[in-house]
Formats: sequence, structure tokens, C-alpha cells
Amino acid sequence: MGNPGRSARIVTTGTPVADGTRRRRLHVITWGCQMNVYDSARMQDVLTPLGYVATDRAEDADMVILNTCHIRENASEKVFSELGRPRPLTQARPDVIIAGAGCVAQAEGREIIARAPFVDIVMGPQTYHRLPEMVARAARAVGAVIETEFPAESKFDHLPDSAAPAISAFLTIQEGCDKFCSFCVVPYTRGAAASRPMDAVLAAARQLVACGAREIVLLGQNVNAWHGDVGDGRAGGLGRLIRELAEVPGLLRIRYTTSHPRDMDDDLIAAHRDVAALVPFLHLPVQSGSDRVLAAMNRGHTADHYRRLAARLRAARPDLALSTDIIAGHPGETEADHRATLALIRDVGFAQAFSFKYSPRPGTPAAAATGQVPEVEKDRRLAEIQALLRDQQHAFNRACAGKSVKVLFTGPGRRPGQVAGRSPWLQPVHMSGPATVIGTEIAVRIADGHPNSLAAEPLSHTEELACA
Ligand code: SAH
Ligand code: SF4
Ligand code: F3S
Repeated sequence: MGNPGRSARIVTTGTPVADGTRRRRLHVITWGCQMNVYDSARMQDVLTPLGYVATDRAEDADMVILNTCHIRENASEKVFSELGRPRPLTQARPDVIIAGAGCVAQAEGREIIARAPFVDIVMGPQTYHRLPEMVARAARAVGAVIETEFPAESKFDHLPDSAAPAISAFLTIQEGCDKFCSFCVVPYTRGAAASRPMDAVLAAARQLVACGAREIVLLGQNVNAWHGDVGDGRAGGLGRLIRELAEVPGLLRIRYTTSHPRDMDDDLIAAHRDVAALVPFLHLPVQSGSDRVLAAMNRGHTADHYRRLAARLRAARPDLALSTDIIAGHPGETEADHRATLALIRDVGFAQAFSFKYSPRPGTPAAAATGQVPEVEKDRRLAEIQALLRDQQHAFNRACAGKSVKVLFTGPGRRPGQVAGRSPWLQPVHMSGPATVIGTEIAVRIADGHPNSLAAEPLSHTEELACA
């Protein structure tokens, strides 16, 4: 599973119908965060009643959706470099519909049309529930259909929930962001923060579990800013929602991502102590260990606030492991600031992390700030940060060897006779074993801790230990 900053290109696979009827085929290419992965699946669901079935072959498609990411320059450049790909398809079959969706479509819709005039639809992330109507309009229109306004109605209320969930299923409960960190495009591409009401979240969770999900990953650009009416007109936060979700029969694990240090309230920390189904793993981006840089980033907290928060979380849940995001070379970052980031990483200790070179994004305050850090300097700082984070991840994985760990098996492994799953700390785990364990959470013995995964074997005796 990626983090919100990663821009891996994911090609959705699907099962075309084999009944001889001419169905329309849909090919979706997804870049970016889990929210985009989730949205791509919802777009498929909303197009199903129109007769669209998924295909993993772009050349067979009647409609291609490019679901894009704008977070860093290389993420959006990748999109623009791949934008030309569907052109031969539209030349051979002019009725094929090409749609640009996601955060580049929101931020640079006009640029997409300018660089790829064969694109029929440009739609921002808040408009996907209008997709059937856009498809109908695209069939009639001369020129592209563009939908990048933030509509008054919520997409939460108008998009269907997952039709075919995985054992580990995503569920978006919050979208958008009001925090305006200096470097970040998300408040502009996803709009203002909005929470999905608790009853709707619980109903969606029950439906996912009824269809086979055993783990739910609650998604939001600022997921712990979730708030809502939790009954009797009282307002509550994510901690309360998690307690309610933990009551859903059959739901074994709950995760949430991505959270902001400023929104980790007492009740959410207490939920880590009280709710067994809430995994002992938290992705909590810090970005920098320097107070000067954190202030320039508009993060709204200090490095010591983060250290104290980590300590409080670990006091609440002693086996909790943390993961984070770091940016190297934000404008104004000095060598001393960089050293402060390395010190924070050493002090807190991360089981996993994503780190990025600062990338100026058009329209964000940091892009226009003085004190841009030279590229070579950013490269060196990032390399130092990544070496340290890599060592911490390897040490964490090695420390799991010999221990008994509960693994949720989610599918077959890469090799024949293998099954694969995740530890509570999100480490990929593989084991030789029968397919019957898929969909169950069982304790296994970790035979080996590799840099990026764990090798397991069935437990010969019962021991309940955890990674340290
Ligand atoms: N809402 C989350 C992060 C969302 S973006 C939070 O507040 O932490 C995912 C990650 O991408 C960020 O945590 C940040 O580390 C990285 N990122 C965002 N904008 C960036 C930029 N302009 N340059 C480099 N990294 C960036
Ligand atoms: Fe971007 Fe900051 Fe909002 Fe995270 S909190 S999405 S980094 S603006
Ligand atoms: Fe990218 Fe938009 Fe997600 S910019 S990281 S797809 S919120």
C-alpha cells in the first residue's frame, strides 16, 4: 500500500464479460495516494449501470480514465508524459472517451486540454458522482467537458460504496484540507475539509464486512480531523468513530491514514489504548524536525510537541510503531535545520517512512518564498535522511525475527504455495501455507526480517510476543 505522497502508476485489472454481448470497456490508470485508488474504484462503480466493465487492456477500452496526482513536480510530469498514450486509440476509434481526473485535472485542467486536445472530459476529484452525465454530454459535445468546480452537493452522498471490496478495504471518511501547509497543493486540489457522517460510515463499514472485508483503512487527507454528530446531537471525533467501528461484528482490524499531529486529540490517543482492533501502527507525518522550518511550513506545532505526542501514543499502546513523511530542503532550511530533522528521526525512531525532496508547486506560498535550497543540497540532505530511515526500518524488521506476530492474510504470495498478508505494523509478510488462511488473521512465527518484508512460518507453539 502506498502513502499519500507516492505516485506509483497502478493499472486496474478487471474481468471482461465473456457472454458475447457488446459491453463497453473501461480502463482506469491511477497515480497518487490511496484516495485516488479509492476514487478510481468508485468511478468504476458509478459507470457499471451504464454497461461499463473493467479491462486491463487500454487498447480494448471504450473509455480511458487517467486519475492523476499533482503532489510533486515529478508526479504531475509523469501524468503529462503519459497523456499522449491514448492518442493512437482515439485516432483509430474516434468514439473512445478519454477522461482526465484527479488533482492535475483540478489544478491544470486547461493545460491538459492544451497539451492533449483529444481529451473529452476533465473532472476534478469532487465531481465523480456526475460522471454518467458527463459521459452523456461528452458523446454530444464538440470540445471537452470540463467539471472542476467544487459542487454544492457532497460526493460522499452521491457515490456508491464499494461493490467488490478487498479483505483490506479502503473507506473514505474525510476529504479535503484547510491546513494550508506552505508547500502543499492538496487544499487547492481537494478543496475544504469535509467529514462523512458517522451513520453513513458505519453503514458502509458493515456493508464492506458483509462482502468479505476484515480490515478497514479509514482514508482522509486529514483523517483525524474527522468530526461529526455521534448521537444525541453531540459532536465527536475520530476516536469515537473508531470505538463505534470496533463494534461491527467480523471487523478484525482498523487503520486510519493520513493523520496530522495537530489533530491527535486525547480521545483518539485513548482509543489506541482501548480498542484492540485498532492496529498498533500510525502514519503521522512530521515533515521536519526544526521549529523554524515547521513554522515556515505552517504546520502549527513544534518538534518537541511531536516528540511528546509520540511518547504519549507509546504510553497508551506500548507496541505502537510510527511511520512518517519528511521533506528535505524546504525554502529557508539551513544545515542546522537539517541536523535537527536527523535528530528528531533518531529520537523518535520510525518503523517506516516516506521522504521527499522539496518540490515547488505552482500557487503555493513556499514556491514563491526566498531561500530556495539548491538541488544538489536537497539531494544530499535527502540521501542522509533516507539512509537513517532505511536503517531504522531494517532494524525494526530484523527485531521481528523469532517472534510471534498476528498476520491478516489477504491473498496468494508471489511463489506457488505461498500466501501473503500484512503484520499489524503494515509489513508485507509471506509464508508457505494453504489458501484457506486467506481472509483470516492468525499468529505466525517470523522466521526472517528482510529490509522490506517478513518471512513467516506456521507457529509451532503459542507465544504472544510483539516486535519491539
Ligand atoms: N495530509 C498529509 C500529507 C498529504 S501529502 C499531512 O498533512 O501530513 C503526502 C506527503 O507528500 C506529505 O506528507 C509531504 O511529505 C509530501 N509533500 C507534499 N507536498 C510536497 C512538496 N511540494 N514537495 C515535497 N514533498 C511534498
Ligand atoms: Fe497538505 Fe498540510 Fe493539508 Fe497535509 S495538512 S494535506 S501537507 S496542506
Ligand atoms: Fe496526489 Fe491529489 Fe492524492 S495531489 S497525493 S492524488 S490528494
